Amino acid sequence: METIVIGIEGTAWNLSAAIVNETDVLAEVTETYSPKTGGIHPREAAQHHATYAAGVIRDLLEEGKKNGLKASNINAVAFSLGPGLGPCLRTVATAARMLALSLDVPLVGVNHCVAHVEIGKWKTPARDPVVLYVSGANSQVLAYRAGRYRVFGETLDIGIGNAFDKFARSAGLSHPGGPKIEEYARNADTYVPLPYVVKGMDFSFSGLSTAATDALKSNPIEDVCYSYQETAFAMLVEVTERALAHTGKGEVLLAGGVGANMRLREMLDIMCDDRGASFYVPEKRFMGDNGAMIAYLGLLMFKAGSVTDIGKSHVNPNFRPDDVDVTWITED
Ligand code: ATP
Ligand code: FE2
Repeated sequence: METIVIGIEGTAWNLSAAIVNETDVLAEVTETYSPKTGGIHPREAAQHHATYAAGVIRDLLEEGKKNGLKASNINAVAFSLGPGLGPCLRTVATAARMLALSLDVPLVGVNHCVAHVEIGKWKTPARDPVVLYVSGANSQVLAYRAGRYRVFGETLDIGIGNAFDKFARSAGLSHPGGPKIEEYARNADTYVPLPYVVKGMDFSFSGLSTAATDALKSNPIEDVCYSYQETAFAMLVEVTERALAHTGKGEVLLAGGVGANMRLREMLDIMCDDRGASFYVPEKRFMGDNGAMIAYLGLLMFKAGSVTDIGKSHVNPNFRPDDVDVTWITED
């Protein structure tokens, strides 16, 4: 019998729920929180999710019904245990527990970072890639080895997306800053030197972001945006390349909202080409936070018997991908 799972994502600003089976996304409904000013306010985002959770799930089940799906066909309810903003995680976890109880199916608590990886593998030909996961709050280089997704490199301070957004705010640009920085960078003339910070296999963006803000005083915004991107992306590509060399893998998969950036894709593509590796980028809707990725990882875990007792379904805002016991990959 086919397995069907509902997943709810709401670790940050995006509340999104989806129903998947093994081959397709059968329904998806998203309700995005957008702060009136500045960045994301965790309690306001959680309030947003609390306000819309019931409606999003109702609309999702309606959409499923239109595609011939009954609530009784659903085998499990998945949600993110973390990482993410505590108040948002707790709100969505409560909704997921209630839904699992009312449908009388198991609950599956998943790791948000691992969900980005698995949907990328689902929606591209990548099988065993080195993954560059770059989003607002997260920046990590991951790869599977012996029952875990190991973290080969990661940010020592803030995620690249949040670093972009912080710089953009200081430059008077509206949220989210990433796409605006990419736009300005296209019209640059000169590279302005900025601090390149890679320590071992880890990277740091906080100092770079501050230096870029300072550089705005004496350089055109186009040049600063360009230089900021070139520097930050070179750091990410360097660590990804070293992870490829170290693991001997032949594929790179890009994940997370910052993966929308065309210059980052181009740089990764060149690096992969040089090394004879394949480079994969999923469709944009599967790169940023989405309900389908939670549902899909929930499906993989459910099939492998990894379900979560309601009594042990506490969220963990700092949940690391390398803490997850990967039960759904069988080694050949
Ligand atoms: P997470 O919870 O995984 O940290 P998130 O809530 O930040 O994710 P995502 O959709 O994965 O959400 O990523 C959003 C980030 O992506 C924002 O910081 C935004 O500025 C950045 N971003 C979006 N498009 C681009 C782009 N074209 N270039 C650079 N950054 C981008
Ligand atoms: Fe994410």
